[in-house]
Amino acid sequence: MITEVLCLMDGQEAEKIARAARIIQKGGLVAFPTETVYGLGADALHEEAAAKIYAAKGRPSDNPLIAHIADREQLDGLAASVPACAVKLMDAFWPGPLTLIFQKTEAVPYGTTGGLDTVAVRMPSHETARALIRAAGVPVAAPSANTSGRPSPTTAAHVWEDLNGKINCILDGGPVGIGLESTIIDVTGEVPVILRPGYISREMAEAVVGIVDIDRAVEGPPDPQAAPKAPGMKYRHYAPKAELTIVTGGQQDVIDQINRLTDEKEEAGIPCGVICTEESRDQYRCRNLKAVGSRLRPETIAHNLYGVLREFDEEDTAFIYSESFEEGQLGQAIMNRLKKAAGYHIIQV
Ligand code: TXA
Ligand code: MG
Repeated sequence: MITEVLCLMDGQEAEKIARAARIIQKGGLVAFPTETVYGLGADALHEEAAAKIYAAKGRPSDNPLIAHIADREQLDGLAASVPACAVKLMDAFWPGPLTLIFQKTEAVPYGTTGGLDTVAVRMPSHETARALIRAAGVPVAAPSANTSGRPSPTTAAHVWEDLNGKINCILDGGPVGIGLESTIIDVTGEVPVILRPGYISREMAEAVVGIVDIDRAVEGPPDPQAAPKAPGMKYRHYAPKAELTIVTGGQQDVIDQINRLTDEKEEAGIPCGVICTEESRDQYRCRNLKAVGSRLRPETIAHNLYGVLREFDEEDTAFIYSESFEEGQLGQAIMNRLKKAAGYHIIQV
């Protein structure tokens, strides 16, 4: 299959979006930018179209997709009931980086929900994403547009790397803003539960609906005995090719320990790298140093993290050592992704 790239930064945006929308209407696959990461879209109500998404990504078919909508009316066709807390969350955070889990209607095929009776729905704030959904006239099922197991794509070039030849079209809208996937909140129970942390933090959600729980799969490795509530959380997502280790502790101790580890590797001729911050970059001896952002602005770390992991993949680095970040607010989402990428391999100093 030839993958067509439509660049939205050099004019004729409306025509290009209309062309991409026709591909979705015909049951094809289109990658498009959202404010979180690039998504791989297909008609959410079309079972075979959803099946193509799983095939292109190499994704296990029990890992359900998120249905993206452009306006509230589209929710009626997807959600069997909309609890009061969901209305408050939607009023506060839609359009935006928040996905809600509802009981599904019969219109939503099990091929989209991975066999579940619930459906994940999100209204993105990215103009291109909403224009595409509107033009397609259907809810658009879209997981992140990466090969299953690789970091989510934050640029069209990342999508091309993974899916060239496997999908019909890529809408290139430039780099995304946030860089980490949406917060997922399950609103089907008594108390809303965060299944995946993201830009919308627990504190932000609690300010709107009172108490919000966090699924235990968010903080630690999934319990092999218990099925995680978001099936995707059981897979080792976001894995770089190199063995990634997080070093945590006092700032100077972390730097000293990482210097010791990389000295050892470099002396043995083993290629290694370090994920550090703008504030600490001058203190490392390792030659392969990548500053992911500034500790003073966690949003820069979220924005760059997946791109940095992909850069290491291109270099055949064997070991990566990363500083750890404070877990509050956006830091919780950053550390959730970093720990998964590291397979929960953490050294405490
Ligand atoms: O920011 C995002 O959410 C991006 C952009 C493209 O919108 N999409 C995204 O999709 O991250 P994906 O497929 O990579 O992650 C979807 C997650 C998975 O962990 C999946 O298991 C969970 O949502 N999920 C989907 N439907 C669910 C459901 N009915 N119940 C529980 N979890 C669900
Ligand atoms: Mg994904």
